[in-house]
Amino acid sequence: MKRDFLNVSDLTKEEILHIIEYGIKLKKDRFSDRSLKGKSIGLIFMKPSTRTRLSFEVGVYQMGGQPLYITGSSTQLSRGEDIKDTGRVMSRYLDGLVVRTYSHRELEELAVYFDKPVINALTDYLHPCQILADLQTIYERLGRIEGIKVAFVGDGNNVANTWLIAGGVVGFNVSVATPEGYEPSGKAVYEALKHADKTGAQIQITNNPVEAVKDADVVYTDVWVSMGQEGEKEKKKDFEGFTVDEKLIKHASKNVLVMHCLPAHKGEEISEEVFEEYADLIFEQAENRLHAQKSLMNFLFK
Ligand code: CP
Ligand code: NVA
Repeated sequence: MKRDFLNVSDLTKEEILHIIEYGIKLKKDRFSDRSLKGKSIGLIFMKPSTRTRLSFEVGVYQMGGQPLYITGSSTQLSRGEDIKDTGRVMSRYLDGLVVRTYSHRELEELAVYFDKPVINALTDYLHPCQILADLQTIYERLGRIEGIKVAFVGDGNNVANTWLIAGGVVGFNVSVATPEGYEPSGKAVYEALKHADKTGAQIQITNNPVEAVKDADVVYTDVWVSMGQEGEKEKKKDFEGFTVDEKLIKHASKNVLVMHCLPAHKGEEISEEVFEEYADLIFEQAENRLHAQKSLMNFLFK
């Protein structure tokens, strides 16, 4: 049966750790894995992207396959062809799909009708490829993932939701601090807690950023306004006190890693000073999108 990667929990803890280790190996020799030779992979992007699009296109090429970049407006989806028919048609040509879209439900529907593996390249609900690469980065820096504490400070968005589920599945502690009214999805919290029951991960949701970052090994942030929310209400004043700056990270562990998935709005969710202090790490995260996703594609598409 085909496997999809729509959610971190589509993989077991052991599979995630295996994919991270193979990603680290691929980083040493970019053309060492040619398992996509002769395969065509569709990359459907209904939202903008720099890192995800480039890392998947380059990754498929390095693995010997053909990447097909497909924008929302360029397919008949934009003229009302339904997901069910689109999935069945694409099954006749493609060996795998990578999809960035708005509705997670629609991604799940496409994965039902497309008969080969589908990778979630971001939905409004989750961003699992990002967290896979981030876990590789953390593993490279700290030599471990299990048992660490990750503090997410900012909007309870797709990235925050994914951190919660990842913590539950892999077995590390996640504390998410958001302003009131911006908490992560209840569904994600529920799923995280369900997995945490087995792995022993501690999951915390708070409105106090100092409490969240206390003794954290990783302090993580993301934009306050995600793609698709641009026209919504002005949020900035609700996020006062939630900027990851020098004052806040003083509460974290001494050798804290400050991470950001990018793109960044410096002066909002992260101060320019902290961003530049951790820029090497942040751009390493971006690079690791390539290696971790190649490893994932080897696992799913070969
Ligand atoms: N971090 C991330 O997914 O970036 P892009 O939106 O540029 O792909
Ligand atoms: N939360 C952000 C992540 C961008 C990579 C968004 O959805 O726009």
